Amino acid sequence: MTNALLGRSIRSSSLKFVCETRSLTQKMQRTEQLKVSRMKKVDFPIDKSEWHPSLIPGPIVLISTYNSRKEPNVAPKSWLQMVSFKPSIIMFSGTKGNPTENNIMKTKCFGVNFVDFSMASIVYRCTKWSGRQRILKSGFKLTDASKIHAPLVDNCKAHLECRVHSTKTVGGAFVIFGQIVAASIWEKIVRVECKERYALLDEIVYLEPGMFARIDKAYQVEHAADANE
Ligand SMILES: Cc1cc2nc3c(=O)[nH]c(=O)nc-3n(C[C@H](O)[C@H](O)[C@H](O)COP(=O)(O)O)c2cc1C
Repeated sequence: MTNALLGRSIRSSSLKFVCETRSLTQKMQRTEQLKVSRMKKVDFPIDKSEWHPSLIPGPIVLISTYNSRKEPNVAPKSWLQMVSFKPSIIMFSGTKGNPTENNIMKTKCFGVNFVDFSMASIVYRCTKWSGRQRILKSGFKLTDASKIHAPLVDNCKAHLECRVHSTKTVGGAFVIFGQIVAASIWEKIVRVECKERYALLDEIVYLEPGMFARIDKAYQVEHAADANE
């Protein structure tokens, strides 16, 4: 057999192997799905604070603000959600009367700083302190935002700058809607392939008190069958 023929034959048999493995994995996933659909379901609390496991994880961020004397404040939040594409609006659920929300009502803007795995324990601990103490003890390094009157937390790899769109009291929560007017991210993240960017960003999501999860791997839907391999 010539080298060219040998190469073609190796390529076609490895392609056949990949296709067979994929269809086997898809078959396994269908079997798994069938098992799940037949699982016995039991009642679960409707009170989120009793959820173990948490059914709705939220990205952990630091909301950064200035008060009227330009004193900075940094607070962790995790009930944060995208609301509208155009204009780009997000919301987070806060607490009426707390320094973060008071500052936002005065300055009409806030920074959103995305927390990564390396910051998890610092961020969970930081609420032991408040105001300036929290910033100093946690080692948060602040810089001014580019378009709004708020600081940004330099320890984070990605930031949003938001202007208040509206607010709403919902039950015991004070929900703040913010229009994104600027965004920035660690340069290296946008230099790698899309799928690899999540590992570099290494975001974490809040699960329950003292527990979080890490987003360090992303899957493309068309390759989901390979995910279990
Ligand atoms: C990981 C984590 C996530 C939190 N998420 C929220 C949240 O989504 N909404 C909220 O009102 N408080 C949340 N908190 C509690 C606030 O951070 C806490 O009340 C803090 O004192 C608020 O800061 P401030 O008083 O300086 O505004 C969270 C705390 C931690 C540690």
